[in-house]
Amino acid sequence: MKVTFSDKAQTFQAGIFAVLNEKKEELIRRGRTVYNLSVGTPDFLPAPHVTEAVANAAKDPENYKYALTDRPFLLEAVRNFYRERFGVELAPEEIMSINGSQEGMAHIAWALCDPGDLVLAPNPGYPIFSIGPSLCGAQVETYPLYRENGFLPKLSDIPEETARKAKFMLVSYPLNPVCAAADDVFYRELIAFAKKYEVIILHDNAYSDIVYGGRKGKSFLSYEGAKEVGVELYSLSKSYNLTGARISFVVGNREIVDTFRAVRTQIDYGMFLPLQYGAAAALNGPKDGVKAQCLEYESRMKALCGGLRRIGWQVPDGEGTMFVWAPLPEGYENSEAFCVELMERSGVICVPGSSFGSLGEGFVRFALVQPVPVIEEIVEAIRKSGILS
Ligand SMILES: Cc1ncc(COP(=O)(O)O)c(C=O)c1O
Repeated sequence: MKVTFSDKAQTFQAGIFAVLNEKKEELIRRGRTVYNLSVGTPDFLPAPHVTEAVANAAKDPENYKYALTDRPFLLEAVRNFYRERFGVELAPEEIMSINGSQEGMAHIAWALCDPGDLVLAPNPGYPIFSIGPSLCGAQVETYPLYRENGFLPKLSDIPEETARKAKFMLVSYPLNPVCAAADDVFYRELIAFAKKYEVIILHDNAYSDIVYGGRKGKSFLSYEGAKEVGVELYSLSKSYNLTGARISFVVGNREIVDTFRAVRTQIDYGMFLPLQYGAAAALNGPKDGVKAQCLEYESRMKALCGGLRRIGWQVPDGEGTMFVWAPLPEGYENSEAFCVELMERSGVICVPGSSFGSLGEGFVRFALVQPVPVIEEIVEAIRKSGILS
């Protein structure tokens, strides 16, 4: 039988990642040192009180049944956390766990859109922002983010007709990959825009705990009127080093959370109970580790950006996230070709900016997943490679 696949499935090609992976394997075979700064998996460990809570709950055979719902202790932990951390009051109905923000973004358009409905997503932006709605049959239109504007959208540049047609808009700050944070003025304008054009806002808040310069990351929901217009995704992946556990929450507008819950009951039977205990332990527990980690990411960012500037690559400091967004060095124009050449010449692996959208071309992204001494080695490896001269 000849198996034929959907047009959508065929748009997901490994492309450059397969090339980078092949090159990496080849370098390793040749005994070269490889520095992998491509994937944003934290190198820190989850806190012991979290792993203990998961392990203890995993010993109880009762906890292997379908969970079906988020338990009251978990909802209470989220409510207390949002109140203390962000000053936001949430009702239990305004909270739902998801299997990572990635899963949430992959499916939420099923609750909000009919086929062909318009969704606005950033360019450049984290890929699922566009892929999720598109998988659900929505039509995605991107809004441009330019360095000159601090990588914030100019809302007044979105054509009125597009704004009126848009069902929802994905927004995320601090933003992966561009490492920019947004200020209060932006969020207030965003909420006014949402109300004026009746556009739902989906704010992905994956990096509110990794903001530099002593600034405190906020929640979209802490701004007046936010709950009326949208929801936020809060992930435990990066703040608590739980990427593999797949725990996030969608919080905010009750009707949206309720409808999304109804959709998800068709595809998911609830979060594994030991993970519910682990998530509650993370949210209820001490947060010193979260703060210390943010400072460590900041030191890494400074070591990488400052180090690269010292050797002649003009990379500005980032404002947050666990990445560095680097404009290509002079003389280079194609981010894929540059990544391949950088890996071959220095052993350093990063991600081409073009994989985050057309406006990501001209940049590469490094993940800050190595400690400062290794980052210093990386800068030296790049200098010695001669790629900048
Ligand atoms: C902006 C952004 N949102 C969401 C995610 C995925 O988060 P989760 O692990 O909760 O699915 C990532 C992961 O890198 C991310 O960078």
